[in-house]
Amino acid sequence: MTRRPFVCGNWKMHTGSQTAVSLALDVSEGAAAHSAVEVAIAPPFPWLENVARRLRDGPVSVAAQNCHFEEKGAFTGEVSPGMLRDAGCTHVIVGHSERRTLFGEDDSLVSRKVAAVLAASLRPILCVGETLEEREAGSTMDVVGRQVQKGLGKVELVELPLVTIAYEPVWAIGTGRTATPEQAQEVHAAIREIICSLGGEDAGSSMRIQYGGSVKAANARELMSMKDVDGALVGGASLDAFEFTEIIAAAAENA
Ligand code: PGA
Repeated sequence: MTRRPFVCGNWKMHTGSQTAVSLALDVSEGAAAHSAVEVAIAPPFPWLENVARRLRDGPVSVAAQNCHFEEKGAFTGEVSPGMLRDAGCTHVIVGHSERRTLFGEDDSLVSRKVAAVLAASLRPILCVGETLEEREAGSTMDVVGRQVQKGLGKVELVELPLVTIAYEPVWAIGTGRTATPEQAQEVHAAIREIICSLGGEDAGSSMRIQYGGSVKAANARELMSMKDVDGALVGGASLDAFEFTEIIAAAAENA
């Protein structure tokens, strides 16, 4: 089964209202040459609507970096999936390791968010990944397996194809230290096995699994040449349109 590579830029808490628009337009121009790749960017909340409007009908979709699991209510400071859809988003990143470690999100909260995103007709990018301590203790697959199973716990089988999983080893995020292509492949293949056992061969073989953690133009080709690596979730390098476009081009080579 051929899977269309999917590259998403996670801008985290970076850019201003003007730089967000110019970066988005530059990415859109770069992505236009690589239609074999699905491309999304995830700007901070305040810029979503404007960026989505400027990118409308172009090759780049807009993702949010987080959401609440309720549609509305007394949840000061939170943003619902429906609001994100109204703002023009099509995807939401859920369970990023920074949310898990800095903001206390656990698997049960993450699974509610994944379900809420789908209920709002948006597509979740479910992030999973082990810490350095967990890797060194040999528990990578226990941790990642649990995060995948629990994160997808409230997803109907028919909805599985709408989910993207991002494998992001915590020790590789923002550290300049990337997993080797072999390390990434090993975990991606194991995640695909889990999806096959949950939803059947078709669901497993069609699901996109992105790698994330210090992806740059210089290492993207090698990582995405691995059989089960179907794109990337890119942090720091997505803030530079040229570098990000190079990563999209690397994904296109493996499409
Ligand atoms: P990084 O971040 O590319 O800066 O390591 C990746 C991520 O956190 O999604």
